[in-house]
Amino acid sequence: MLTNLTAQPADKILELVGMYRADPRDNKIDLGVGVYKDAEGKTPVMRAVKAAEKQLWETETSKSYTSLAGEPAFHDAMIDLVLGTSVERDRIAAAATPGGTGAIRQAMELVKLANPDATIWLSNPTWPNHPSIIKFLGLPMREYRYFDSETRAVDFEGMAQDLAEAKEGDIVLLHGCCHNPTGANLTLPEWAEVISILQETGATPLIDIAYQGFGDGLEDDAAGVRMVASEMPECLIAASCSKNFGVYRERTGILMAISEKADNTEVAQGTLAFLNRQNFSFPPDHGARLVTMILTDPALRADWQAELEEVRLNMLALREQLAAELQALTGSDRFGFLAQHRGMFSRLGTSPDKVLALREKHGIYMVGDSRLNIAGLNKNSVSILAKAIVDVGI
Ligand code: LMR
Repeated sequence: MLTNLTAQPADKILELVGMYRADPRDNKIDLGVGVYKDAEGKTPVMRAVKAAEKQLWETETSKSYTSLAGEPAFHDAMIDLVLGTSVERDRIAAAATPGGTGAIRQAMELVKLANPDATIWLSNPTWPNHPSIIKFLGLPMREYRYFDSETRAVDFEGMAQDLAEAKEGDIVLLHGCCHNPTGANLTLPEWAEVISILQETGATPLIDIAYQGFGDGLEDDAAGVRMVASEMPECLIAASCSKNFGVYRERTGILMAISEKADNTEVAQGTLAFLNRQNFSFPPDHGARLVTMILTDPALRADWQAELEEVRLNMLALREQLAAELQALTGSDRFGFLAQHRGMFSRLGTSPDKVLALREKHGIYMVGDSRLNIAGLNKNSVSILAKAIVDVGI
């Protein structure tokens, strides 16, 4: 049986991690996988996470199973973080999942169960694991225009035209903030227009929010999601805690399913629990418990928010420095978009051979579509990157 297997396509982002590790050069720079790094190149455990872990170690008396959908306290804390008071709580079903990817996978499973003929609309480009999971599940998908590679901004006209073709019952996957891989985001008026299109077509939004707090701040980054959730009859939301709590390997995420009417919530909640049971039974608890402790303890929460804000401002400063250094080196404003983009990523908008040249000649690793992880930089490596970008002729 095992001899029937054929090699699966490598995940482009994770493949790069292996290539970077294997590179013996000590001046190499990793701008690949989306992991936050501080000025020393370390991915620290956040202070509030350490403090919560200590408290948990001292007080936890059992590691028996939680419930299939995870702890209700985690649902409440995350619903409050992502949605605030934008939606009536009794319309929201929620389940803890193994990371944000787990939430996306469970959302797709839910769509497959509820409406297997639905087409899932993805931004072009999007995080490569989105189409990979959809293809694996055999669901129909289509792309909508999103990124204008000339201006490096959102091609909103193209997006609106394409989404107008969605059919009733289709699913439109939107990035809540900090679009991955481009860094180009919708403005609030554009979110409002997307909502009108969804309402006209009868398509349902699925929002992937994996970087809340990395763009314009915790509240601002959730503004689009909240607007959609409050104005659409139904909405799915996949949220990740990997980045904003720095708990990557704990696999902490949540899927929320908002029904039009509260009397559907029980069956939606039961379905989320059922889907967890089919795929992995109980969700991981450690990270979810830490997140709950942090969000519900005022002192831990204040410390977490302060550190998250430092992380955000650090990335913004690196963006501005990179744009300024490129401006000085090239005498043009064509890299100004780097300071306008938000979140961990920006897409440089160059060809794969230039990306390869950066890697081979300068030891600078970024994804082949020219997505760079801003958080992989520090004050010194920004200058090295700027010179290398000019050197390879981008
Ligand atoms: C990324 O896009 O680099 C992150 O979301 C990590 C991953 O799993 O791909």
